[in-house]
Amino acid sequence: MKDFHILYKSLRKIDWRVIEIIFKKMWDYKYVPSDLILKLSGIKESELNKILRRLSDDGLLDNRSQPYFGSSLTFLGMSLYSLRKLVTRNKLDMLGKKMGEGKESVVYNCYSEKYGECVIKFHKLGAHFRKIREKRDYGDLHLSVLTVRSAKKEYSALKRLFGIINVPEAFAWEGNAVMMELIDGKELFRVRLENPEDALDIILEDTKKMFRAGIIHGDLSQYNILVSDDLYIIDFPQHVDLDHENWPDILKKDIENVLSYFKKAYGIEKDINSVTKYIISE
Ligand SMILES: Nc1ncnc2c1ncn2[C@@H]1O[C@H](COP(=O)(O)OP(=O)(O)O)[C@@H](O)[C@H]1O
Ligand SMILES: [Mg+2]
Repeated sequence: MKDFHILYKSLRKIDWRVIEIIFKKMWDYKYVPSDLILKLSGIKESELNKILRRLSDDGLLDNRSQPYFGSSLTFLGMSLYSLRKLVTRNKLDMLGKKMGEGKESVVYNCYSEKYGECVIKFHKLGAHFRKIREKRDYGDLHLSVLTVRSAKKEYSALKRLFGIINVPEAFAWEGNAVMMELIDGKELFRVRLENPEDALDIILEDTKKMFRAGIIHGDLSQYNILVSDDLYIIDFPQHVDLDHENWPDILKKDIENVLSYFKKAYGIEKDINSVTKYIISE
């Protein structure tokens, strides 16, 4: 995959116009018909065909020709669209280096005059959303659309929890991108804690506070806790509210992950049932 920076700079106004139309219409069509793009963009047909082909060659579009000509944004196209929105809405001034790439996201360093040094998380579709898709009917939408839902879900959880527990402050959400505070720390599994008992207490206390705020993380583990001077909980796209039919199992799994990590890494043992009781008690 070509670098975001190079591709971003290579796009012209007319390319952005096409990308924007596809983004807007992806909620109505799995593949946005070329005829519709032609009508909405006012670009000459031969020119539009060239643009659609080039954007597909660069990996921004997923084009198909059956049963009609149509295009959707790929992860790359969606991410560049989101980046552009952050820039034009004056949220973002500079995209920095890639900090990491996981199964469900690509995270970049960034700089904003308004917010200082920060990070952008571009949501990809991980195993989790594919599973949900099988179970629930999301209608016939392109998978890229689900990355937008995932980003929105993360942004809203960060907003709800900020001030209640330590989470990165969320600055903006556009498309599949969430721009947030940079936490200068390492994942829990990479550090050797001096006071693991205290850390475990804080994590369980945070889980209780989240529960009181009506949120269950859904993927809590040593990979989604950052350690700096304080502990921070990250990675919320799969969180569930208390109206989710399965919330007790999801909460128990979160607690189990944390307890088994502290048992394995530090030999600390706690009974899962009494911890769970404590978390859901008033
Ligand atoms: N706000 C942040 N500050 C610093 N690093 C972050 C931040 N958010 C994410 N990261 C880094 O990016 C990685 C992936 O982010 P995460 O939200 O866990 O997504 P994924 O679903 O891909 O696991 C994290 O493990 C962490 O190293
Ligand atoms: Mg993670």
